[in-house]
Amino acid sequence: MIYYFYNLKTLTMYLLTDNMKKQYLDELIDFLKIPSISADPKYKKSVKKAAEWLSNSISKAGCENVEIIETKGHPIVYGDKIIDKKLPTVLIYGHYDVQPADPLDLWNSPPFKPIIKKTKNHPNGAIYARGACDDKGQTFMHIKALEIMISRNELPCNIKLMIEGEEEVGSSNLEFFVRKNQRKLKSDIILISDTGILNNNQPSITTGLRGLSYMEVKLTGPNRDLHSGLYGGTVANPINVLCKMISSLKDDNNKIKIPGFYDDVMEISNSDRKEMSKIPFDLELFKKSINVKSISGEKGFTTIERKSIRPTLDVNGIWGGYSGEGAKTVIPSEANAKISMRLVPNQNWKKISKLFIKHLKNITPNSVNIEIKTHHGGQAYITPESSIGYRAASLAYKKSFGKAPCSVRDGGSIPIVPMFEEVLGCKTILMGFGLDTDSIHSPNEHFGIFNFFKGIETIPYFHKNFAKLFYMNST
Ligand code: BES
Ligand code: MN
Ligand code: MN
Repeated sequence: MIYYFYNLKTLTMYLLTDNMKKQYLDELIDFLKIPSISADPKYKKSVKKAAEWLSNSISKAGCENVEIIETKGHPIVYGDKIIDKKLPTVLIYGHYDVQPADPLDLWNSPPFKPIIKKTKNHPNGAIYARGACDDKGQTFMHIKALEIMISRNELPCNIKLMIEGEEEVGSSNLEFFVRKNQRKLKSDIILISDTGILNNNQPSITTGLRGLSYMEVKLTGPNRDLHSGLYGGTVANPINVLCKMISSLKDDNNKIKIPGFYDDVMEISNSDRKEMSKIPFDLELFKKSINVKSISGEKGFTTIERKSIRPTLDVNGIWGGYSGEGAKTVIPSEANAKISMRLVPNQNWKKISKLFIKHLKNITPNSVNIEIKTHHGGQAYITPESSIGYRAASLAYKKSFGKAPCSVRDGGSIPIVPMFEEVLGCKTILMGFGLDTDSIHSPNEHFGIFNFFKGIETIPYFHKNFAKLFYMNST
């Protein structure tokens, strides 16, 4: 009982002073200058530098047992603050690696020279840099929130921080680490800020993520590129064949035609769909924000449903033949495509990958050969709104935004989240602060200054509410 009242003062406001704001922004800018691109081996040293920067900042915040853990790939940064073993423990996860910045010429300012600019969605300014939102900016909010709580002696629970450097390349080394360190990582809840909110006037909590199966297909035809005049009309063109195969993967209603693809899909109830339809969503604004005249997707589902609770199949890249300047009359000897599928709860990504391979082999004509490679993948995730973690997050947003959050299922994937549940037996609360329009993975990625500071203000309320609800639940 004393443990709960120990230091758990009433919810003091976590409003940041101008000095704090300036200092936190300066520090974030420093962090964003390090090009921690995990996918490109050329940046290995920079990734390491970001890990070192992060470990210093975690130590400075007052965490203990801070270490940089080497893996077969990029390092994991760990630190903790154990106040009392009888208090609940929150494991905070984030990633300091970023996506490659290309195409560079589409950036209005260099991706690793952060600048602050005002935008329509961010009238108070946003910080532009690769990783600003996904996920260096959002991870850094947790470090600052902790620093404040520790310095005021107001931390109401134990904290473990685990920040990885390989989220954008599939987290396989983290998975290995988690499987080997279940005791070290033991916690009551996992807290992650690597998703978004609906908008700055309407916070939301992510209660679901989609899974992923990522494939690469190669078709080979003639043993070399051929003159399309001498050979055109006599042999199959691998690019033509690939396009035909790809276009056969969906019917006119945009249903995916891979046999068995929908077999395990968890359908949602009519009442859940009705709830979903209440989420504020402006279709015109959506179209305008990406400059399209009309939307497209699976028949029978709304745009919100299409981007969250329904599985998809998309070509992410396609290449072969000649794509340089001018014209070259050639029949290519090969054609390639990267194709990925977003999956929903109950679909198994390994099973879906197998179904994809089987079907593609089935529809390949004799005129070409096919090779298929499976890249990374992961399971979908859902978390109930009835948990104390969800309630703690909901109260926290309500306190800092002055408005109760709605629950939203997101379309993106964080494959380590379902893995945490499987291996650590622990649920995750996805408490993000980004906006869909922040251009994550795209040129000109940014993160609102408002969002950054709001995150730092909201996080302490989560810890306080969680500690309180946890205590109330256990007595
Ligand atoms: N933070 C994103 C995922 C995300 C963003 C989920 C916004 C929901 C809302 C994460 O860094 C990411 O990009 N995940 C990848 C998968 C990964 C295996 C490369 C994705 O979703 O494509
Ligand atoms: Mn991310
Ligand atoms: Mn990402």
